[in-house]
Amino acid sequence: MKTYKIAVIAGDGIGPEVIDEGVKVLKAAAKLDGGFDFEFTYFPWGCEFYKKHGKMMDDDGIEQLKKFDAIFLGAVGAPGVPDHISLWGLLLAIRKGFDQYINLRPVKLLKGAPTPIKDATPENVDMVFVRENSEGEYAGSGAWLFKNKPNEVVIQDGVFSRHGCERVIRYAYELARSQKKSLTSISKANALNYSMVFWDQIFAEVGKEYPEVETHSYLVDAASMFMVKDPGRFEIVVTSNLFGDILTDLGAAIAGGMGLAAGANLNPEREFPSMFEPIHGSAPDIAGKGEADPLATVWSASQMLDFFGHTDLGKLLIDCIESLLVERKTLTPDLCGNATTSEVGDAIVEKMKSLYNGN
Ligand code: NAD
Ligand code: IPM
Ligand code: MN
Repeated sequence: MKTYKIAVIAGDGIGPEVIDEGVKVLKAAAKLDGGFDFEFTYFPWGCEFYKKHGKMMDDDGIEQLKKFDAIFLGAVGAPGVPDHISLWGLLLAIRKGFDQYINLRPVKLLKGAPTPIKDATPENVDMVFVRENSEGEYAGSGAWLFKNKPNEVVIQDGVFSRHGCERVIRYAYELARSQKKSLTSISKANALNYSMVFWDQIFAEVGKEYPEVETHSYLVDAASMFMVKDPGRFEIVVTSNLFGDILTDLGAAIAGGMGLAAGANLNPEREFPSMFEPIHGSAPDIAGKGEADPLATVWSASQMLDFFGHTDLGKLLIDCIESLLVERKTLTPDLCGNATTSEVGDAIVEKMKSLYNGN
């Protein structure tokens, strides 16, 4: 029997609370299927670890993670540790260390999910963001000159390589073609006269290999407006690292909130483990209260199952989330319910049993 080895990094704040429910659901999925198993190995890395050891993970952390089939991550970041230290020391170190250059983020309004958009329906809010996840504005290149002097200067470079742009754009074209969907590129070539002119050029070049894919290209400012005013325009979307970060929080707001938004950090060649996580942070404002919504984490567990080829179970989890949203009986406060984090996890497991048997 196949055993998937999963490295669990629960992290900070609500991370451990939501990860507990994700693990619960993955175990239930394996049990229902009966044909595979999971083995979870927990790593105590995060801001508490940093406070004790002066680093976010072990020095050979990336080496330790290499042997796993996937990484399941809660959230990183806590008051008292500067965010650029905690995130560059763990989350971004893993994304970059394992060349997880695709960040796949569904923006899909499930039935029953709240949306602030008047005309939004499950039919017209159904997008997948393919966010570049290895370079661009997040390349980590720059300088801090004349620190604390009157002539102080900081430089943060955007790094857009041909290799890096081509591979993410090609991935998005492949996805659009296989799903018979349109592909929208979001950039900003009117102002960013090197990086985004280059991005647009590569979008057009790679597109020649995919004449059957309908394409659109928007400036990021207009795209943000259209996501709210006319979300049905977007199906598969490809964009840069920072634009993708910002637009997927906007997407989360449209499709039910941060408690429902998931993301997969993929190394498509499977040379290294991929990482699955909710896209929200450690939410210090609600941490420890048992009210964090675990559904984003459950959705990321569904992405993990898809990645392993268990797409029937991946879909089952989405159906279970939708069913909870429609029934409105067991939801956390962000979705106007009064259930606890673990009650929602338990309710998902119960739903899985009933919907799986119903198949
Ligand atoms: P956040 O996502 O943690 O919180 C934003 C708001 O959304 C808060 O009001 C929070 O209560 C709410 N929220 C988030 N997730 C929720 C959930 N599952 N259920 C219910 N409500 C939820 O973003 P922030 O406040 O900007 O950042 C807090 C910390 O997290 C910072 O240190 C930041 O750097 C870090 N961060 C980490 C990640 C990650 O690990 N992937 C992502 C984003 C932010
Ligand atoms: C996300 C987060 C991260 C990002 C931060 C915490 C570095 O906001 O996954 O969306 O910007 O990628
Ligand atoms: Mn983000």
